[in-house]
Amino acid sequence: MPAASIRSICCIGAGYVGGPTMAVIADRCPTVQVTVVDINQTRIDAWNDSDLSKLPVYEPGLDAVVGRARGRNLHFSTAVDDAIAAADMVFISVNTPTKTKGLGAGQASDLRWVEACARQVAKSATGHTIVVEKSTLPVRTAEAVKAILSAKEQSSDGAQKSFAVLSNPEFLAEGTAIPDLESPDRVLIGGEHPEAIDALASIYENWVSPDRILRTNLWSSELSKLTANAFLAQRISSINSVGALCEATGADVREVARAIGTDSRIGSKFLQAGPGFGGSCFQKDILNLVYLCRHFGLPDVADYWESVVTVNTWQQHRIARTVVQKLFGTVTGKRLAILGFAFKADTNDTREAPAIRIAQDLLEEGAQLAIHDPKVDAEQIARDLKLPASSAPDADSGPTRAALSGEGTWWPSEDIAAAVSGADAVLILTEWQHYRDLDWSHLAPLMRQPAWVFDARSVVKPADVLKAGLQLWRVGEGQP
Ligand code: NAD
Ligand code: UGA
Repeated sequence: MPAASIRSICCIGAGYVGGPTMAVIADRCPTVQVTVVDINQTRIDAWNDSDLSKLPVYEPGLDAVVGRARGRNLHFSTAVDDAIAAADMVFISVNTPTKTKGLGAGQASDLRWVEACARQVAKSATGHTIVVEKSTLPVRTAEAVKAILSAKEQSSDGAQKSFAVLSNPEFLAEGTAIPDLESPDRVLIGGEHPEAIDALASIYENWVSPDRILRTNLWSSELSKLTANAFLAQRISSINSVGALCEATGADVREVARAIGTDSRIGSKFLQAGPGFGGSCFQKDILNLVYLCRHFGLPDVADYWESVVTVNTWQQHRIARTVVQKLFGTVTGKRLAILGFAFKADTNDTREAPAIRIAQDLLEEGAQLAIHDPKVDAEQIARDLKLPASSAPDADSGPTRAALSGEGTWWPSEDIAAAVSGADAVLILTEWQHYRDLDWSHLAPLMRQPAWVFDARSVVKPADVLKAGLQLWRVGEGQP
């Protein structure tokens, strides 16, 4: 099939990757019809909502892109088979979480959704179809996808079908998905069929310079995605481990990061110490890499990468422990304000957010948490904490009997001043711009003294906090 002949694309999976990626493709390729399909009717309805502020994924700039293309050549639907049948190219962009049971539980990727897609494509495709793995997959998954598709090619149940399988992993980061998609560092295409690779490259060439489109074999492409995430996450665990040493020695992790980051061999990005990495992918992809290493008889390599996750979990527990220690060794019945629940700023995604583990540790200690986040709703927080919200107590009343009995509770707070009122401490767990500009001279008098600010994201101006009479702990800051 010549490259220029892609006229219709189907993307299976209307999530954080499928939605924004297809919106940008449709925006940049107005002559290509792009249909994003999903089995989740609620999600599809939200993508079709006439109110663009109600899209299911919050990403700066996404509403404008969707607004331009939707209804023209961008469509959201639950008619999966029809969209596959009409497509020259099908992207598989479904979830690939860590398996929770069975062989490889806790490490291997759960490929049931990918396999279901491959079978559905095999059944419903017509003519020649290029199948593109967009989901992040264990290296050699394309082997299984090819086997499922080719079984159908050889079957005699209807019209001729043929398939070419490509790997085209996505490197966007949430919160910056639109700029990442519009100006990617690179687009990676792995495959065996040059004409299929050219067809996919020709889509991206509508807006990406050809020298940024890398072509590799299938396995290099699949493995590069896991490796990229492992390297990025490794830098975060490295800087967080050094941050703990800074706290113990009087060094400052921000100064250390600046000092090492100016070495062009190291580079300045991904050296921000924090509450540990969150997000749906870093932990899952490293654990997948660990599983693969063990599977291929490389236990030492597996241990090496596993330590990146171990340090991350340790960092999250360490922050909760620090809060308890600073508050005289107990938070039972104490009010704490948690500012930020999303795993990073500019997203409504809470998957693996550090706030979850830190809040759970504090609830376990019997704390009363007022939780504020500009984009995460209360139902999501309740699901993540596996605990329904309580109603907010009166800020002026003392601890309730339930609180002093040691039961941790939480409630959502839409207002920062209300969250902080009566609190013994404020914990900043997401780096929302909002939290950089707080007026501490206004907030401090609302708190119960002596009160603390725990800044796990290095967003406050220390002088302002100290001047307001608050005590301050910042991640990775030792006392000189
Ligand atoms: P997601 O959970 O937000 O979306 C996946 C969607 O696929 C869901 O809406 C689900 O209903 C749908 N789905 C599952 N099986 C289906 C089927 N058989 N038919 C139709 N729809 C089906 O996931 P996501 O965050 O978009 O991630 C998708 C993939 O992309 C994962 O492999 C992930 O590792 C990878 N990835 C994610 C990011 C990110 O920032 N989230 C970045 C790069 C790569
Ligand atoms: C990450 C990668 O950056 C993307 O390239 C990749 O496509 C994606 O995973 C994926 O495969 O899902 P994402 O998780 O959306 O993107 O966001 P990041 O900006 O990488 O942040 C991940 C976590 O690390 C966040 O919790 C963030 O706060 C934390 N982080 C990031 C730090 O603690 N310090 C830093 O210096 C950078």
